[in-house]
Amino acid sequence: MTGSVRFVLGGRVVEVRDPDPTTTVLQWLRANGRPGSKEGCAEGDCGACTVVLGDLGADGRLRYRSVNACILFLPMIDGKLLLTVEDLAAEDGELHPVQKAMVTSHASQCGFCTPGFVMALFALYHTDRAPKDDAIHDALAGNLCRCTGYRPILDAARAATADRQDDRFDRAEEGIVALLESIRRDAPLAVSGGGNGFHAPRTVDELAKLVAANPGATLVAGATDIGLWVTKQGRRLATLIHLAEVAELHRIEEHPDRLEVGAAVTYTELLPVLRRRLPELADLVGRIGAVQVRNSGTLGGNVANGSPIGDSMPALLALGATLVLNHGGARRELSLDRFYHGYRKSDLKPGEFVERIRIPLPKPGQMFATWKVSKRRDQDISAVCAAFLLTLDEGGRVAELRTGYGGVAAMPARAAALEAALAGQPWTADAVAAALPALDRDFQPITDMRASDRYRALVAKNLLVRFHLSTTGAEAPSLEAAHG
Ligand SMILES: Cc1cc2nc3c(=O)[nH]c(=O)nc-3n(C[C@H](O)[C@H](O)[C@H](O)COP(=O)(O)OP(=O)(O)OC[C@H]3O[C@@H](n4cnc5c(N)ncnc54)[C@H](O)[C@@H]3O)c2cc1C
Ligand code: FES
Ligand code: FES
Repeated sequence: MTGSVRFVLGGRVVEVRDPDPTTTVLQWLRANGRPGSKEGCAEGDCGACTVVLGDLGADGRLRYRSVNACILFLPMIDGKLLLTVEDLAAEDGELHPVQKAMVTSHASQCGFCTPGFVMALFALYHTDRAPKDDAIHDALAGNLCRCTGYRPILDAARAATADRQDDRFDRAEEGIVALLESIRRDAPLAVSGGGNGFHAPRTVDELAKLVAANPGATLVAGATDIGLWVTKQGRRLATLIHLAEVAELHRIEEHPDRLEVGAAVTYTELLPVLRRRLPELADLVGRIGAVQVRNSGTLGGNVANGSPIGDSMPALLALGATLVLNHGGARRELSLDRFYHGYRKSDLKPGEFVERIRIPLPKPGQMFATWKVSKRRDQDISAVCAAFLLTLDEGGRVAELRTGYGGVAAMPARAAALEAALAGQPWTADAVAAALPALDRDFQPITDMRASDRYRALVAKNLLVRFHLSTTGAEAPSLEAAHG
């Protein structure tokens, strides 16, 4: 198997013949004369490596998104426009408006973080023509600066985006689109190098055959988990099968009673739909990682990875989500609460993959909420995450309470004892208080660097109390204010 990864960089098509597929975009850039993007953490946390990818949207226009180059494998940018800090100034040296604003706002000191901030701002410049402060904070939450301080950087963001004019990338769009069209592929990409192979099928059928024929292969969606296996654990991934080129897996179907989310849908693609149809979950998804992570990471990857601290699963468990699993084209549907068997152990059989996630929407009268408690608001991992779906009968008693918890057990799980303790009870503060000890039978949390076992056990209970208060008209003190 031989092949080339092709992408647009510096105004021309670049072809890389049979790279080791686990070479990261950052490693390739720095080894090929582009040292502007920096390596701070090599795990997606600091944003120093931020680059911008461009591809063609359904409307034929260019879509720009910031990503962390340190955890992105080179073949994953096949067919895309890659922009780094070296690309922004014009040939005559004139700086891009976001660069000018960084200079005039004195937003850089040692400069190590600056290329990453500039690229995050450039992505904002091209995704939001008049960003409000919330959007600016969101666009920069994945970038850390250890010396300048954030105030001048926020000033630069405001200055760059006030009275936004078309930049030279807007004016060159036609030419860029033509270059991207010239490297558009119909046949699947396959490359091998350094003893590792990478396949990017284009249809679900191709994917299903490939996965069934290579049961030991590693599936990769956004690589926001897998990237770290390589950069931090030094793992060798002999065969990678990439899901993001399968168009069907990017579909989000909206039904009156449910959403069906393809396994390659990124959080950024999902968020606008969630804001309309399931705003409680949108708030939580908006706190997964930061924008660079949400631009690559997928709900499918979160669920399949099965981390006990994955943030989407508590909500999906409470809502009664099911997974459509595909093995060589044969499909089965499995409830998420039967998917996990233990720490990172799931019901996925060798050669099988998650094709879609079915998310039932709360019915009229049902009450749903989900909360993540972490030390920082953005770019942080949950100490505890919980979700609740409540159905009351006509007498105000609990007809059903479905729960989902993360961070308190070896896997995301429902709190069966708690659910049973409240079934048929009046939905009152007294009944909730009486049921809380059941949570100690459900979970025995551990102590780690994020939280102690006692803190986790207490927060797990307090979140149920908060849910009770929020459903009965009284709102608890804001946890975000306390932990944001
Ligand atoms: C800086 C940073 C911050 C983060 N913050 C959060 C956070 O706040 N909350 C949170 O929950 N997570 C967080 N994560 C973890 C990660 O972003 C999520 O778990 C994400 O959803 C993974 O999706 P992905 O597409 O990148 O998965 P990948 O890394 O591509 O894959 C993850 C795993 O799932 C498997 N897989 C992927 N798709 C499928 C499929 N369709 N079928 C079967 N197996 C599949 C892969 O083989 C792999 O085992 C963070 C990660 C980083 C780097
Ligand atoms: S080097 Fe820190 S996010 Fe990439
Ligand atoms: S300018 Fe030094 S880390 Fe930001």
